[in-house]
Amino acid sequence: QGERIILGIESSCDDTAVALVRARPGEPVAEILASEVTSQDALHRIYGGVVPEIAARAHAERLDAVTSIALERAGLTLGDVDAIAVTAGPGLIGGVLAGVMFAKGLAAARGLPLWGVNHLAGHALTPRLTDPVAFPYLLLLVSGGHCQFLAVEGPETFRRLGGTIDDAAGEAFDKVAKLLALGQPGGPAVEAAASSGDPSRFAFPRPLLDREGCDLSFSGLKTAVRRARDKLIEAQGGLSRADISDICAGFQTAVAATLAEKSRRALAAFPKATFAVAGGVAANHTIRDALAAVATEAGATFLAPPLRLCTDNGAMIAFAAAERMARGEPDGFGLEARPRWPL
Ligand code: KG4
Ligand code: ZN
Repeated sequence: QGERIILGIESSCDDTAVALVRARPGEPVAEILASEVTSQDALHRIYGGVVPEIAARAHAERLDAVTSIALERAGLTLGDVDAIAVTAGPGLIGGVLAGVMFAKGLAAARGLPLWGVNHLAGHALTPRLTDPVAFPYLLLLVSGGHCQFLAVEGPETFRRLGGTIDDAAGEAFDKVAKLLALGQPGGPAVEAAASSGDPSRFAFPRPLLDREGCDLSFSGLKTAVRRARDKLIEAQGGLSRADISDICAGFQTAVAATLAEKSRRALAAFPKATFAVAGGVAANHTIRDALAAVATEAGATFLAPPLRLCTDNGAMIAFAAAERMARGEPDGFGLEARPRWPL
């Protein structure tokens, strides 16, 4: 099949994202013609977390403009678009609904095929968006909402090897940032504070290392951070900058060590495979380095997509639809928004 231009829409959390991608159905490596992401951070900041109602309204208000900007950046009009792809779940239902309704409107107005994409499949297929990676490959998806190891066996075939039993890794970064009053999103703030810290001052736990397999847990680690903070506050009346940096460094090292050990176990079943990482936490340099070292040690090829494709974006949604186009049928107007949708 020939090249298609696909418009991809993502609105399942707090980023309104639209992209235009030129892809060959079923083939890796696509061209991103434009990828616009508008963050809602400023709207949610004073609440200390994403407020679903506010997110949904902001998506509904912004989708039209973000789409126009993406088309303009790509030098295209809607008349050039061959298909519409939209995240149909999982995520905050109001935002997903806003995206699905908007996508249906576009598809109906232009008579275009409509593809509903699983957000997690979007993240999981991202390595093939940029690199000629063959199936199967091993993926660690680490974001604010998800944390799991997947064997990616085909565009619609994912085998879950293990994952978090409580918080996602990004969620733990966000909560630790909140405990230390560092602001949101927490990941980049914690990483910045950790850069001048001493990772050995606090001995934080490496959760579940005693348990077989590659399940993860981050809620106990967050509790350990809270205890260390409270102890310091009680002893000295507050936290110094050095205290905050040392806590962040200790926490980040514990997360990196845990992810690395679980990756080592997951890789044991995938000798010489490609080991890819996706999701916002993959932006963290300490974590990237730890995972790259494990891959090298296992003889695997490590792949970390560029940061803008690690975090939520419309290009991964458009590409995930392209992956399915070679074999499947579009969803059509019966497409429903799904708050929960396991892979
Ligand atoms: O993939 P993403 O943009 O959205 C979700 O689908 O969740 O991931 C966002 C998460 C947030 O929890 C954020 O704190 C975390 O990724 N994150 C980081 C870093 N940059 C973003 N975590 C650690 N280090 C970073 N540099
Ligand atoms: Zn995501």
